[in-house]
Amino acid sequence: MLELMRVSEAKIQLSKPQKIGYFTDLHFRQNVPGTSACPERVSRKMANILNQCIKRLKKNVDLIICTGDLVDDPDHPEVKKDLWILADLLDSIHIPTIIIPGNHDIAPDIFYHIFRKPNKVMQIEDCEFITFFEDICKEGKEASVRTDLSLRTMQDILNENPSKMKHTFLIQHYLIYPEYNKGYPYSYQNASLIRGIMEKSPRKIFSISGHYHHGFSTIQHNGVNYFCGSAMCENPFPYYILDTNADKITIQRYDIGSCSDGSIIDTARGS
Ligand SMILES: [Fe+2]
Repeated sequence: MLELMRVSEAKIQLSKPQKIGYFTDLHFRQNVPGTSACPERVSRKMANILNQCIKRLKKNVDLIICTGDLVDDPDHPEVKKDLWILADLLDSIHIPTIIIPGNHDIAPDIFYHIFRKPNKVMQIEDCEFITFFEDICKEGKEASVRTDLSLRTMQDILNENPSKMKHTFLIQHYLIYPEYNKGYPYSYQNASLIRGIMEKSPRKIFSISGHYHHGFSTIQHNGVNYFCGSAMCENPFPYYILDTNADKITIQRYDIGSCSDGSIIDTARGS
C-alpha cells in the first residue's frame, strides 16, 4: 500500500452539496512515536475520534472538507504510514473529500501521492470551491505566503460572477482575517492582499481556515465571511456540519466529547 500512488484527480459527483462535513487539525500520530509537544493535542487518540466523527458524518453530509495538519510531525520517517491510515479511513466512507495540507503535513506534491488531489476550482451546482493547497506552509516562525501566481489565479476566478452561483468557498490552512500573529504566525504574511482581492469580488465568499486551534465562529468583514474551525485534536474534539441550502450558510458544531478519565463519549452533542 505504501508504494502506491492514489489517483490524483478528485472525482466529485454530487447533485448538490447541501451539507458539508468539516474538521481540521487532527495532529494524528500512530506509527510516528511519542506525543505532540503541546499536551492538549491528543494525537494518539485521533484514530478513535476520527472514526467516530466520520461514522456520524457519512449518514448526514454530501462532502467532507479538512483544512490541514492531518499529522503532527512531518519530518518523522514513519509519517507517510500515518497519512495512509487517514487517507484509507476517509476513502472507506465513499463521500467526496477536499483535503488540503497544513504546516504540520508533508509537502503538497508528496501529500497528494496519498490523498486525492482536489482541483483548483470545483463547481458543484450552485456552489464553487477554490482550494489553496499550494500555499507555502512551513512549520516554524514564518507565516505562510500566497504566491503572486496564486493571487492572480484567485483574482481571475473571483472577478467572474457566474449566474446561479450561490456560495463561493475559499479553502486554506492559514487565517486571512482576523490577523492573529502574537507569539505564533497564524495569518498569511500577505493576508491584506488576499482580502483586497476577495473584497472586490462580486461574489458571496465564505472563507474556511484551520491552523488557529481555538477557532472562531463566522465573522463578516467588508462583505466577506470568515470561519475557522477549532482543532479536532483538542478536547472536546469538535467537527462541523455546514448547510449551504439557504442564502446564508448555517454551521452546526458537534463535539465528540470525553470523560474526565480520557475515554471518549459515544454521543454527539450540538453546541
Ligand atoms: Fe494545527
